[in-house]
Amino acid sequence: MPGSRADRRGGGGLPAGPAASRLAGPPPLSPRDFARLGAFIEGRCGIRMPPSKRTLLESRLGRRVRELGLAGFGEYCDHVLGDAPGDEVVRMVDHVTTNKTDFFREPHHFELLVRDVLPALAAAAGAGTRRPLRVWSAGCSTGEEPYTLAMVLLEAARQATGLRFGILGTDLSTRALERARRAEYTEAQVRPVPLAQRRRYLLRSIRDPQVVRVCREVRELVAIEQLNLLDPDYRLRERMDVIFCRNVFIYFERSVQQRVLLRLARALSPGGFLFLGHAESIAGLEVPFDPVAPTVYRLREDA
Ligand SMILES: C[S@@+](CC[C@H](N)C(=O)[O-])C[C@H]1O[C@@H](n2cnc3c(N)ncnc32)[C@H](O)[C@@H]1O
Repeated sequence: MPGSRADRRGGGGLPAGPAASRLAGPPPLSPRDFARLGAFIEGRCGIRMPPSKRTLLESRLGRRVRELGLAGFGEYCDHVLGDAPGDEVVRMVDHVTTNKTDFFREPHHFELLVRDVLPALAAAAGAGTRRPLRVWSAGCSTGEEPYTLAMVLLEAARQATGLRFGILGTDLSTRALERARRAEYTEAQVRPVPLAQRRRYLLRSIRDPQVVRVCREVRELVAIEQLNLLDPDYRLRERMDVIFCRNVFIYFERSVQQRVLLRLARALSPGGFLFLGHAESIAGLEVPFDPVAPTVYRLREDA
């Protein structure tokens, strides 16, 4: 069936004519197709797609267009926005999310958590003492943030025996979540982990000495699940005491930020704490949080 999609996908033989030009990459992403894809991505994940992102989207999705053997972005749009199987949408979302993260990123947050937030929550709600403290890393990417939280809280538990806690890490990106569950990192990735904690909580892989794995004790404290922050209902089993939602809001429109913040507020227990990334703020938004430190907020008791 020459010219059919199946034919274009098939290998074998030397590419010639149109096939050869496909190897050079699909034709540019037109403003119309960009607008179609951008609207879909914004609606599905909240990620802003201003015109300045056209080149980025073109380069991130161009390889996928080639892999599928499609003639161009127009066909890709029809495919992904039309009758494509759900996993193609998942794949596209994986391509458009920015998963940059680090162990011990913005370390002052972890210091503040142990020094000020744990005692405040223990005093107010018995969180961590009378019942386990519940911490949520929302937009956890490849897992460095929830595993950092687990290490920091394990260290705190060494000082204050009896501290009990559980951590939930969620993200939209399937690919990022797979890596978070694997909990395997390179030597360079674990460099920000302080030496004492590296010794206690990270193990060199027997299979591959270049790979370092988070130890079982830490992994077992962290549940990794998929969750889209745009979902109207997060269906969490229990309310959280602390939410880290850092470096996620920067990708959202103001109206999406407001909507998601109200849902996060509903997911927090009264007096719970919210940590945002260094470039994020709730200023100007109608949300029931009081600032307690730069980028750290507390849910109002009467919320
Ligand atoms: C830059 S990473 C931040 C990771 C980590 N919180 C940190 O600060 O290091 C942003 C993460 O937000 C996730 N994300 C973007 N939109 C999302 C949505 N609608 N729901 C859930 N996660 C989302 C992305 O997949 C990505 O892994």
